[in-house]
Amino acid sequence: MKKKVIIFITLILAITLGWATRPTTAHAADDSLVRVQKKGTLVMGTSPDYPPYEFQATVHGKSKIVGMDVAVGEKIAKGLGVKLKVKSMSFDSLLVALQTGKVDMVISGMNPTPARKKNVDFTHLYYQGGYSIVVNKSEKGLYHDKDSFKGKTIGAQTGSTMYNESKKQTTDTKVKGMTSVSDLILALQSHKIAGVAMEKPSAQAYVANNKQLAMIPSHFDLSASDTSAAVAFKKGSTALVAAANKSVDQIRKQDLVNQDYLPAAGKYLKTNTVNTSMWHYWKAFLTGIEYTLIITVCSVFFGFILGVILSLARMLHGGVVKTLIRWLATAYVEFIRGTPMMVQVMFVYFGLGLIVNLPALTSGIIAISLNSGAYVAEYIRGGINSVDDGQTEAARSLGMTSGATMRFVILPQALKNIWPSLGNEFITLIKDSSIVSIIGVSELIFQSNIVRSDTYRGVAPIAVIMVLYFIMTFTASRILNHFERSMQHD
Ligand code: ARG
Repeated sequence: MKKKVIIFITLILAITLGWATRPTTAHAADDSLVRVQKKGTLVMGTSPDYPPYEFQATVHGKSKIVGMDVAVGEKIAKGLGVKLKVKSMSFDSLLVALQTGKVDMVISGMNPTPARKKNVDFTHLYYQGGYSIVVNKSEKGLYHDKDSFKGKTIGAQTGSTMYNESKKQTTDTKVKGMTSVSDLILALQSHKIAGVAMEKPSAQAYVANNKQLAMIPSHFDLSASDTSAAVAFKKGSTALVAAANKSVDQIRKQDLVNQDYLPAAGKYLKTNTVNTSMWHYWKAFLTGIEYTLIITVCSVFFGFILGVILSLARMLHGGVVKTLIRWLATAYVEFIRGTPMMVQVMFVYFGLGLIVNLPALTSGIIAISLNSGAYVAEYIRGGINSVDDGQTEAARSLGMTSGATMRFVILPQALKNIWPSLGNEFITLIKDSSIVSIIGVSELIFQSNIVRSDTYRGVAPIAVIMVLYFIMTFTASRILNHFERSMQHD
């Protein structure tokens, strides 16, 4: 019996993996351009931690993504006769988002390296940046270029070319990767790392914004195209790339980046440093709380329904069909409990996204509900099992059917045992829903990251959300306790 369950789980795993890793054949006909034009919008993915390329700025009281890459995106969208929509995500998930159709193009100061070219198509180059290293001003005398960090640690964004090159082209130097450049700068200032490798214009922007920083040349050995930026499109979108190239060529010919886009971005950088008080960002935090609560409430609701179904399925006995259903439910519960929620969230968003294109919030709610259902099923099963067998025997000997016994005798008693665990699940989900920030849902952690990159303040936003999370969980646990007590009374 146990063996069969294991075989079954292995089978499911094999099928899922086989399907997910199947080779994707390129579309015969290239409808990339027509599709975007029909849709009327061009979705640009970017990682807004990279001034002056892309960064968050407060425009008319609202946080917005601005920068020269956004201007490049606008120009391309205009050339296609469609509207631009900018989507923020971490740098290392941009190309996955492109391949799974979450975004139509990536503009993020991205260098068209040979490895990337294998997976996506690039336009012509729109800007040459070059690499620099940002260091603490107080230590500027110690470092001259990439070779002076022996025995020290250099930081670089995960998934970036600087990360790979720092690993390849330095000796006796540790390379620390982090998802966001703003976090790397904070790590630098708190002396966890000695330097941060990034594009020169970005280094200049960080140094101009922060008096404690300085920059040095990197002297990485690289070709010009490996240090220049281009726009990425999904592999095989020849028509779309050709259309975008018309705009890119104009940008180059008229030197629009230097003449127009960079000065405009510079203005935002200045206004950006005006107010860094946390009160100023109450709206951003409020949005975060809203999303966190929406995700939690929806997931607990759907998770509970799924949990009831699963727990009932796990208690089925008898014929082949019932046994099969029981196995399926058991396999599901084991599988979900045996894989990290973070992976489940990414699988629903990116994996399921290959079949149906779900928005990030919906994907997040689905993933967390699916996850929570497995745990809730176990709480319910445990609660039901904890009701004394004598209760069933008594009810049945009074002539009640097994269904009626369950409904009127067992479940009401079981619920008293289940309730506290359900309450705990709710509170756990308030905290764990923060995982969906990785797919770009504007919940509390995501919002705090925006505030951090907006204000260049590292600790304050974290302290704020820590307090906010505690207020939410504490209030919830008080309310749940109240219900629990009134349930014990009757
Ligand atoms: N140019 C580097 C690369 O292509 C880093 C770009 C980082 N961009 C960003 N928006 N954080 O890997």
